[in-house]
Amino acid sequence: MKIKGIRVVITGASSGIGLELARLFLDRGARVLGASLPDRQIAIEDNNYHHVELDISTREGVDRLFEEALNQFGKIDCFVANAGMAHYEKLIRADWDHLNPIIDTNIKSVMYSAIKMKELYPTEPFHFMVTSSVMGYWPLPGYAIYSATKAATSTFLDGLRLEWERDQRLHVVYPVATKTRFFDVAGQPHDSWMMQTSKHVAKKMLKGLEKDKKKIYPSPIFEMCYRVAPWAISFYRKREANLLKRYYS
Ligand SMILES: NC(=O)c1ccc[n+]([C@@H]2O[C@H](COP(=O)([O-])OP(=O)(O)OC[C@H]3O[C@@H](n4cnc5c(N)ncnc54)[C@H](OP(=O)(O)O)[C@@H]3O)[C@@H](O)[C@H]2O)c1
Repeated sequence: MKIKGIRVVITGASSGIGLELARLFLDRGARVLGASLPDRQIAIEDNNYHHVELDISTREGVDRLFEEALNQFGKIDCFVANAGMAHYEKLIRADWDHLNPIIDTNIKSVMYSAIKMKELYPTEPFHFMVTSSVMGYWPLPGYAIYSATKAATSTFLDGLRLEWERDQRLHVVYPVATKTRFFDVAGQPHDSWMMQTSKHVAKKMLKGLEKDKKKIYPSPIFEMCYRVAPWAISFYRKREANLLKRYYS
């Protein structure tokens, strides 16, 4: 895909991976509409950048995002469902309501946005990208729900790929731990191993998009382990399980 001149929507563009990705798109001549929750400091000043404050975990929020994008651009060439959240927790108490925000944000919003793109453009080409996680492959202790949400969106896009037109491109990104606000928001008390920068992840996303990659792995170490030595992750998992046990003892 050529980046110059395209019209892009990015959810979660106020910080971390989404913010870096928005900057890279703008550097390459794209027009960008970013979204985040209300009352956030917006770090981008650029004539080709617009920002909208809304809650993408609701139907109203996503509908408004599409309306704003169509008002601004007339057409959406690429939608990046990047916003996401996690709770770092040991699951020991059944709480129905606790499940809602993460499922609404990480799953329902992504599915609804993808289907809206198809509804808008039944046979026209477009790109839809979702920021999943390596935890969608390899769940980690403390993140059982989060890991399941990331596996769900990845599988969802695999399913859509079988149904949609060939030039309606679907891209899934699998970052490893990345230095953003993510772990603070999740409430993880310790640092993760092998943290990547959000800029690195964003660069890989853009490159993956340009090369029309279905699956984008920003960490070559993860990709190698996954393919050749999946047992290697067990050491990391053991460390994480011990830490979680300690916090909840
Ligand atoms: N950091 C990691 O280690 C890591 C690893 C793998 C995958 N990921 C995934 O990468 C994506 C981006 O995360 P990040 O690491 O860049 O974290 P981040 O810095 O916390 O960014 C999250 C973004 O999502 C937005 N957001 C969250 N809930 C929202 C809602 N209901 N409505 C609108 N915007 C909402 C946030 O907006 P506000 O600023 O308004 O809160 C923020 O812009 C997420 O999907 C995450 O699951 C992260």
